[in-house]
Amino acid sequence: MGNTAPAENGNNTMKKKSSGLFPVSPYMVIPSRVGGFALYLKQGEEFVLYAERGVLFTDEHRERLTKLDVKHVYIKAEDYAFYNTYLHDNLLELLDDEIIPVRERARAWNDATVSLAKDAFDKKLPATMDKRQFIRIRKLINSSLRFLAREDSLRELARFIADGSELYRHGIGVMVMTISVLSSYVKDDSDLMVAVGMGALLHDIGKLELPDHLFSRRGDSLSMDEQGLIRSHPALGVGVCSSLPLPQETLQCILFHHECNDGTGYPSGAQGDMLPSYVKVLSLCNEYDNLTRGLHGRKKLTPFEALTRIKNRRGCFDKEMLARLIAILSKAKLT
Ligand SMILES: [Fe+2]
Ligand SMILES: [Fe+2]
Repeated sequence: MGNTAPAENGNNTMKKKSSGLFPVSPYMVIPSRVGGFALYLKQGEEFVLYAERGVLFTDEHRERLTKLDVKHVYIKAEDYAFYNTYLHDNLLELLDDEIIPVRERARAWNDATVSLAKDAFDKKLPATMDKRQFIRIRKLINSSLRFLAREDSLRELARFIADGSELYRHGIGVMVMTISVLSSYVKDDSDLMVAVGMGALLHDIGKLELPDHLFSRRGDSLSMDEQGLIRSHPALGVGVCSSLPLPQETLQCILFHHECNDGTGYPSGAQGDMLPSYVKVLSLCNEYDNLTRGLHGRKKLTPFEALTRIKNRRGCFDKEMLARLIAILSKAKLT
């Protein structure tokens, strides 16, 4: 805190209102960074100011928290936007910091990603993605590649990303699995990884243009017209992103994520040899996430059940990519 000693006296004690503060791991506070937020410690039922807003957090601060075995520091809810900016600005450094337990890094990644994805999938008319959102998403994925390629991070991330039926959660789940599978065979091509990661996160953004009820019902309860509308969501997704300078790979991911190896998919019915391998990875991970999340009015399946179901539809999904997905899930002990 530069020369400012941490405040520890009763003058800075807040009223007992835990609802106004949220906990973060002390590991998340990087020494030598100025956060636009104050930090509090919980002492009994009260919150005590530990570091004021806008001052430098030092090594001494962090060491003291470690010595005191502090599990959480607290930030006021009204400072959440500042904390979020701080997370995004420092994400690469946080994710690469081996001192921070992988679970805490997974939590930080999830916090940063949820806020961004939620914003991108916010239902607005007309549905469009703006350039500012696109630049932030690209930066976040670029910062995440190394972390998402680790087996242990996948296991920890699963705790945070596995549940929830919202579109943005599905997008995050599909992105994590797609980047994991891609990392097993794409080397030294971060541009491709970022482009496909963006496509995976945004693949269903065209659904924002259609009524929600279409996607919460089982396919066999839909009329032909309704099925036609559903089949339009990949093309609508490309339209939502049309004002952005998206790479070709991202657009292909959005447009072709429902294609099948055997040509039975939509919108084009293209067969396997016409589809890039990253589209096949995305199509597979999309189905896996749909099944394990219990989307489209279906029962939520365990990873084992979902993989069995996918194996039974081998004509649609690429055999090699399925083997890679199974290997990754089993190494991360998720099957
Ligand atoms: Fe879709
Ligand atoms: Fe999807």
